[in-house]
Amino acid sequence: MANRLKIVRTVPSLRRALEPYRRARAHIALVPTMGALHRGHMALVSEARRRAKCVVVSIFVNPTQFAPHEDFASYPRNFATDLRVLREAKIDLVWAPSVEDMYPDGFATRVMPEGAAKVGLEDEFRPHFFGGVATVVAKLFTQVSPDFALFGQKDYQQLRVVTQMAKDLDMPVKVIGVPTVRESDGLALSSRNAYLSVAERAVAPMLHRVLKQCANRIKNGEKVDHVLNVGRIEIDLAGFVLDYLEARHALSLAPIESSKDGPIRLLVAAKLGKTRLIDNVAV
Ligand code: PAJ
Repeated sequence: MANRLKIVRTVPSLRRALEPYRRARAHIALVPTMGALHRGHMALVSEARRRAKCVVVSIFVNPTQFAPHEDFASYPRNFATDLRVLREAKIDLVWAPSVEDMYPDGFATRVMPEGAAKVGLEDEFRPHFFGGVATVVAKLFTQVSPDFALFGQKDYQQLRVVTQMAKDLDMPVKVIGVPTVRESDGLALSSRNAYLSVAERAVAPMLHRVLKQCANRIKNGEKVDHVLNVGRIEIDLAGFVLDYLEARHALSLAPIESSKDGPIRLLVAAKLGKTRLIDNVAV
């Protein structure tokens, strides 16, 4: 249990590395990531540190959650920098399996989420996504057997789908959502922000600004439908190509019609040039 960062790449070595913590009955917290770590990821690491003696960060760019036309090949990979950051944060273990170890030849099982949390929003535009996420997260939960797993509210639908999966499959892990970390102009930190041109980066914070305005207007009693229609026009005029701007129940993610059906979460996805941004806020 020395305070040195251990990097493990196979399931047997992961189990061996976790053995002393299990024997000591120390809590284990898992932070699943695809690397290219930024302050958003590190907020999850801090929360994990607060809750558990042993913090495991997984770094795995998961091919099954990318469609063939998406950015799996070009997704930012900065393993050496990630390790430096994690060493500084004094985390215990990095779980970095290869694609072949995660999905060996003959791999044939998939976890398929269903229900209100999964339907619509991201699922409409990335139909392969939640099957890929749920399958890899279920595997990570089995591999690490964490007491806590930390997910960002930035990917709000992912957080709700994973929470639902853990509950439905009786997984003995507490899924915890961590608030979105933002740049000072409101843009949610994301590994994909690196794709934005200088001009696009200047426009990008508009997405959060519109979300906040919509949330305030709904709080002040304006009709949800009307507020969202105005928001959609504003996002369009700013130069985004909107995928969706919707109001959902904050926990079930079921569609809602009026603020009486709340608590409400507003969720948005839009493309700026070739970069797809997502964000969400509470009402
Ligand atoms: P990735 O995009 O690397 O994100 C890892 C975790 O960091 C997710 O829980 C995400 O919500 C959180 N995160 C990202 N940006 C954040 C921000 N600005 N503030 C707070 N948290 C933020 O999400 C994934 O990877 C993958 O789908 C994964 C869950 C690892 C499964 O492959």
